[in-house]
Amino acid sequence: MQPIFESKSSNRSMGLNRLISAFLAIGLVLYSGKACARSDDKHDYKHALRLSFYFLEAQRSGYLPTNQRVKWRSDSALTDGYEQEVDLVGGYYDAGDNVKFQLPMAFTVTILSWSVIEYAAQLSKLHQLRHALDAIKWGTDYFIKAHSSSDVLWVEVGDGYSDHQCWQRPEDMTTSRKAYKVDTQNPGSEVAAETAAAMAAASIVFQQVDRQYSATLLFRAKQLFRFADAHRGSYSDSVPIARRFYGSGPSKYEDELLWAAFWLFWATDDQFYLHYAVKNARTLGGTEWAVTEFGWDMKFAGVQVLASKVLLERREGNNSSVLQAYKNKAEHLMCSCLNRSGVISHRRTPGGLLWFQSWNNLQFVTSASFLLVVYGDLLARANQKLICGGTVIPTSEIEKFVKSQVDYILGTNPMNMSYMVGFGSKYPRFVHHRGASIISLKKDNRSVGCFEGYKVWYRSMQPDPNQLTGAIVGGPFMNDSYVDRRDNWDGGEACTYNNAFIVGLLARVEKK
Ligand SMILES: *[C@@H]1O[C@H](CO)[C@@H](O)[C@H](O)[C@H]1NC(C)=O
Ligand SMILES: *[C@@H]1O[C@H](CO)[C@@H](O)[C@H](O)[C@H]1NC(C)=O
Ligand SMILES: *[C@@H]1O[C@H](CO)[C@@H](O)[C@H](O)[C@H]1NC(C)=O
Ligand SMILES: *[C@@H]1O[C@H](CO)[C@@H](O)[C@H](O)[C@H]1NC(C)=O
Ligand SMILES: *[C@@H]1O[C@H](CO)[C@@H](O)[C@H](O)[C@H]1NC(C)=O
Ligand SMILES: *[C@@H]1O[C@H](CO)[C@@H](O)[C@H](O)[C@H]1NC(C)=O
Repeated sequence: MQPIFESKSSNRSMGLNRLISAFLAIGLVLYSGKACARSDDKHDYKHALRLSFYFLEAQRSGYLPTNQRVKWRSDSALTDGYEQEVDLVGGYYDAGDNVKFQLPMAFTVTILSWSVIEYAAQLSKLHQLRHALDAIKWGTDYFIKAHSSSDVLWVEVGDGYSDHQCWQRPEDMTTSRKAYKVDTQNPGSEVAAETAAAMAAASIVFQQVDRQYSATLLFRAKQLFRFADAHRGSYSDSVPIARRFYGSGPSKYEDELLWAAFWLFWATDDQFYLHYAVKNARTLGGTEWAVTEFGWDMKFAGVQVLASKVLLERREGNNSSVLQAYKNKAEHLMCSCLNRSGVISHRRTPGGLLWFQSWNNLQFVTSASFLLVVYGDLLARANQKLICGGTVIPTSEIEKFVKSQVDYILGTNPMNMSYMVGFGSKYPRFVHHRGASIISLKKDNRSVGCFEGYKVWYRSMQPDPNQLTGAIVGGPFMNDSYVDRRDNWDGGEACTYNNAFIVGLLARVEKK
């Protein structure tokens, strides 16, 4: 059996659509500013990389540090966990709302860590490594709190339902901050395994920087993996309030268990984890699924690239046939994105952007591009080539394609528009983001009420009072057009995982 997973309509968008449509604003405001057309000249990737970390700072919850560069934000959500008698202050808001969802938060940290592991030298050369480490640690410090005992993980604070009824700054929100957890009675294997993956990956990042911290993360990663594996179940069932926003789709928790096992193998070199991934390759689907997208929910393509890494770096021991089976499936995504599979070609917009779905399409553009360069680099180091449907694909074709996607995002597109806020001269100025769209607390300290926020700020015809610098928004429609309005949540909302991928991508394309 070889299930083919095409794009799934995001349940994340369903919740947003339904709940916000009641408050639809009419104000149609199109792109202000003159169009600054760029042909295919090189964008300033270095500058874009620098900006990308600002968005992650803007998403910080809790007490902000003194070196916070995004000054329009203030401390927020300082009583998270209080009702449940656990300290859950900190972490990240995932997107344009004020909920803390553990699954995408942990995934963001796993990908940021992967970016650092692959491209640390480049990040360091560009003086951004410090910011990358800070961004990772902002997540892992919180995960340590959220993992309040060996078999307990807090997986959400706040909820999408009450949050989406209000339009408020995180600094003065009045909505529920109830916290939800998984434990042995209410398992959540995907979220526990993803957190294990994040902590294992981050432990690699911190090995040379802070040994003690690295060891702490690794210890917890092992505990969480054991918990995830021993008490199997989907957190969508245990914490139904998360389901509509970040519920686990058809791959349930199987992909996350394998994902965590490979990350733990990478972090520890302990054969136990490799054997787990080999032994369970079929039953958990790692060598069965051939997928064409990679994201916070569906991770098989990422798992398969990690497996390929073990093989290509000759650490496979006696398991090469199973790892080869993983690797064969990894190439499905690569070849279909490059339109070289001969069987499946991934859709593209007329302007050449990979097309997956309406809500936050760019998350999948950035993730596919990231896997392509990482995989391409792995092959190159092993003196191998990607082969699609019998054709040898030159490394330069992978590079060129990935660069085309990054350049599209930064402004080489039919709208002549950058989809990174603050980059170039034309970019979204009406992002679907509560904090950015409401005047900073530092400029006006009167609290903004739940509905007042919709009336006064969401509907405002003025551009965002606070620029959400560095944010990669959802992106254009399938016809390459974009409407710069706050109610365009499909295209105008930014998510932390988009930026996690762009960090690695920008560090990589700058090198060439
Ligand atoms: C690999 O497998 C072969 C045959 O199954 C066996 O003889 C050999 O000892 C194994 N090597 C290791 C390192 O386990
Ligand atoms: C994987 O390799 C190890 C030794 O390196 C061996 O003990 C084990 O049986 C192998 N597993 C499979 C499924 O080949
Ligand atoms: C993919 O390649 C085929 C054959 O070369 C071509 O006809 C098709 O238009 C391409 N699709 C895209 C989306 O570029
Ligand atoms: C984008 O730039 C090109 C080249 O200068 C121009 O022909 C085109 O009209 C511009 N498109 C938009 C939407 O501004
Ligand atoms: C809010 O700002 C006003 C004027 O700047 C100041 O007088 C007042 O003390 C502030 N209130 C709070 C609660 O910070
Ligand atoms: C592009 O697609 C969007 C969304 O489907 C639609 O609203 C818009 O009218 C289209 N624009 C053009 C120029 O076709």
